[in-house]
Amino acid sequence: MQDEILSGFPPNFLWGSASAAYQVEGAWNIDGKSESVWDCFVRIEGKTFKNTNGEIAVDHYHRFKEDIKLMAEQGLKAYRFSIAWTRIFPNGRGDVNQSGIDFYMNLIDELRKNKIEPIVTLYHWDLPQILQDEYGGWESRKIIPDFVNYAKTLFEAFNGKVKYWISLNEQNIFTSFGWQQALHPPGKTNDKLFYQVNHIANLVNAATINIFHELNISGQIGPSFAYTPQYSYNSDPINVLAAENAEELTANFWLDVYLYGSYPHAAVSYLRKQGVMPKITKEDEILLKSAKPDFIGINYYQSSTNSYNPLGGVGRGNLNTTGKKGSVKESGVPGVYKKVVNPYTNRTNWDWEIDPIGLRIAIRRLTSRYRMPILITENGLGEYDKIENGKVHDYYRINYLSAHVTAIQEAISDGANVLGYCTWSYTDLLSWLNGYQKRYGFIYVDQDETQNGSQVRYKKDSYYWYKNLIEKHSELTNRKVKCE
Ligand code: BG6
Repeated sequence: MQDEILSGFPPNFLWGSASAAYQVEGAWNIDGKSESVWDCFVRIEGKTFKNTNGEIAVDHYHRFKEDIKLMAEQGLKAYRFSIAWTRIFPNGRGDVNQSGIDFYMNLIDELRKNKIEPIVTLYHWDLPQILQDEYGGWESRKIIPDFVNYAKTLFEAFNGKVKYWISLNEQNIFTSFGWQQALHPPGKTNDKLFYQVNHIANLVNAATINIFHELNISGQIGPSFAYTPQYSYNSDPINVLAAENAEELTANFWLDVYLYGSYPHAAVSYLRKQGVMPKITKEDEILLKSAKPDFIGINYYQSSTNSYNPLGGVGRGNLNTTGKKGSVKESGVPGVYKKVVNPYTNRTNWDWEIDPIGLRIAIRRLTSRYRMPILITENGLGEYDKIENGKVHDYYRINYLSAHVTAIQEAISDGANVLGYCTWSYTDLLSWLNGYQKRYGFIYVDQDETQNGSQVRYKKDSYYWYKNLIEKHSELTNRKVKCE
């Protein structure tokens, strides 16, 4: 569908940007905060690039007013950030730490004062370590009441000030990286446990959405899913089937549960044959069916291309965490699919495919399958940036982001309901496994890989590009609204 004239962005479109607590805040042991699983995991030698950690990160905890001032000058309409559970309940539950509530209250008030809509993520991977030690964290159903209690505390504390809530960030990533690939805490490789953990996370998500609606909190809630649309390498049906397998196991497996309240058939049949199907009770089924998110949050970075992979074929691969292009190895699931290089797209230095059309495809697919509003909660380019005389000419990021914005506009023209767009990320920040050299922000933060630097903020060229884009779209919308 090629259009000569594209539909405009809706009037209240949320032109935003995003971050996560562990990646920006620092202040890891300040004002009553306890340790999260990430605070502990990064101390294990070799787990992260050059053993970098988020103890100081970009010191957003102390500099949030300065950061928000930059956002306001840029004309940002929304800022997505996450709350650290360890600041609110240092023991995971029990007494509320008032300093934690105060910090986020001040952050939210500062955003509102500057007419920036807060989008709050309840969980961006930093589980209180104490709950990991006590009952294995996500491995136990004990987490359900603890999480709901945490979420309820936040809903009530910030009711009326926050309209958009994200329940879990990238459940597919934190469960698979944590329990299948040992890349994230708790660093395990156990397929059966992974599926069980993931099922428990589904229950947490559903129970949280239900309590939000039961409490009549004003606003909307949904999960943020890392969606990678799957392509076939070519039209050979055997490869098309591999792509279908990949879509079923890497996307439908999560999204069908969020939106339909049940697991998709081919995935269930595969898991049963592998002997890794999680235990699902009648009550679980009822809970999953009862929860209805208000939107689908999508984190989109890339697409993925697949070909046939025989039984006994290639298995788990590696992740390029060094920034040396081409260092990623072949990977797949034997008998299911094999990931292959897409000959039509380029890749970043971390071997992530660059595919803006994939975002249009992503929005279209999810709109057709689920008929729900979509909020793009992350999209961005992690690259090396060079600062010279206080300037960062990140034209590659501008190219990347502007092509993705066009893809969203095209998806809107195709009939999708897109609520907003959050770039990843606002300032440079800690890229979990890749340290500080992989930069995503509009704002360059002066510090190197060993965290030497002044933490002074510099506006990159992309900062001004986004400022102009927001201005242009606001003008167009105002003109349209006046004419109507
Ligand atoms: C998403 C996460 O997976 O992608 C972010 O929600 C993360 O927290 C982002 O930083 C980019 O990934 P990475 O590994 O390059 O930092």
